[in-house]
Amino acid sequence: MTRPNSIRPPEGRLAVLLPGMGAISSTFITGVLLARKGLGLPVGSLTQMGTLHAGGRSIRMDEYLPLARMEQLVFGGWDIFPDSVYETALHAKVLEPEHLGPVREELEAIRPMKGVFHPQYVKRLHGTHVKTGATKAELVEQVRADIRAFLRDKGCARAVAIWCGSTETYVAAAQVHASRRAFEAGLRKNDPSITNSQLYAWACLQEGVPFANGSPNLAVDFPAAAELARHHEVALAGKDFKTGQTLMKTVIAPALKARMLGVRGWFSTNILGNRDGEVLDDPESFRAKEITKRGVLEDILQSSDSPALYGELFHKVRIEYYPPRGDAKEGWDNIDLFGWLGYPMQMKIDFLCRDSILAAPLVLDLALLMDLAQRAGRIGTQDWLGFYFKSPMTEPGRTPEQDLFVQERRLKDSLRALMGETTGAD
Ligand SMILES: NC(=O)c1ccc[n+]([C@@H]2O[C@H](COP(=O)([O-])OP(=O)(O)OC[C@H]3O[C@@H](n4cnc5c(N)ncnc54)[C@H](O)[C@@H]3O)[C@@H](O)[C@H]2O)c1
Repeated sequence: MTRPNSIRPPEGRLAVLLPGMGAISSTFITGVLLARKGLGLPVGSLTQMGTLHAGGRSIRMDEYLPLARMEQLVFGGWDIFPDSVYETALHAKVLEPEHLGPVREELEAIRPMKGVFHPQYVKRLHGTHVKTGATKAELVEQVRADIRAFLRDKGCARAVAIWCGSTETYVAAAQVHASRRAFEAGLRKNDPSITNSQLYAWACLQEGVPFANGSPNLAVDFPAAAELARHHEVALAGKDFKTGQTLMKTVIAPALKARMLGVRGWFSTNILGNRDGEVLDDPESFRAKEITKRGVLEDILQSSDSPALYGELFHKVRIEYYPPRGDAKEGWDNIDLFGWLGYPMQMKIDFLCRDSILAAPLVLDLALLMDLAQRAGRIGTQDWLGFYFKSPMTEPGRTPEQDLFVQERRLKDSLRALMGETTGAD
């Protein structure tokens, strides 16, 4: 096995900066703190529990890859509410007191920096812990100053950012997103097409901080961001964590396609009662989510190749805010499929999942893998991290891969290639 010497070693502390410190962020941070003390297992994290084939054997990813260790992570971020991570975790009701108690002091010490918030992009929230500035350009500068101060005060060698903030109202890419120059002019003119998440992303990229986006917001998914990332030689990835229903969809749909079984209808509905559910109850925020959730089936089934099987497919996605469930989401799928001679069949999936429990390990993996990519000089969109996203971002001209197992293979192949390995497919 040859090891390239072009990957900078993971020395020093790594700041994990989280714009949006709500249910997912607090669950992620608590889990890492517990795992560090040997009080919890990081279940769901490939980097901590996964293996790959390399050098003719199966090896744990954290042994094979020069990743930062969980002990080196320092947590920070921004929110529009001032609560400490402990208070947020209590409010989110994802974790039981037995898990919060042993790390209470550490969680209480982590408080979000003031957020950048223009309320028109998240209509259901009324933030109180927000920055003020005459222009969006000024707000970007304030976030940049926060990043520098955080790194300095906490003695961190470098940072990564994972957007865990709310889903914003759907705002399509506009002329202002076409180039770096247009975007910077837009920042100075407070262009309404520039949303909050884009301000954080712009600040991070300018500070050389890799940025991954866990929500459907555009955030870094537009040409000006790609141009800025190239200019500052930064990695980016997105978008929208693939956690529950879409995870299952990207397993089942490829199976039906592999057997050339037809699909006439796929109705997906969700009930959830956390703050994310409340935000998504606003039709304009739901629209952004609907787009990332709906794109998946068409990408997998490719109806133009098999019109007799998928040409009539009716795909509907709903999310219902239902407070009694809290974070314990229920995702139902009804699939109307057909087989030999067109005879109809049905499949029902009822996934009684937990939103933040499924998302937390993705945040950990993305933080470590984005940091690795950055140290290895991988610049721009990290297509190979599509495994983690509902709507995988790609370099222009490439089609996103949605099949979970193809994504897994690409992820592992890319990691082997990064390590200079030429053989050893899983
Ligand atoms: N949990 C999942 O399974 C899952 C899957 C895919 C995507 N997501 C996305 O991940 C994101 C986070 O989910 P969550 O369950 O933690 O939601 P949450 O509502 O608990 O947390 C989001 C946090 O972002 C904050 N926020 C909103 N606008 C902000 C801004 N401009 N600056 C700083 N903070 C801001 C909110 O105050 C809140 O604390 C959402 O966009 C959600 O759609 C979640």
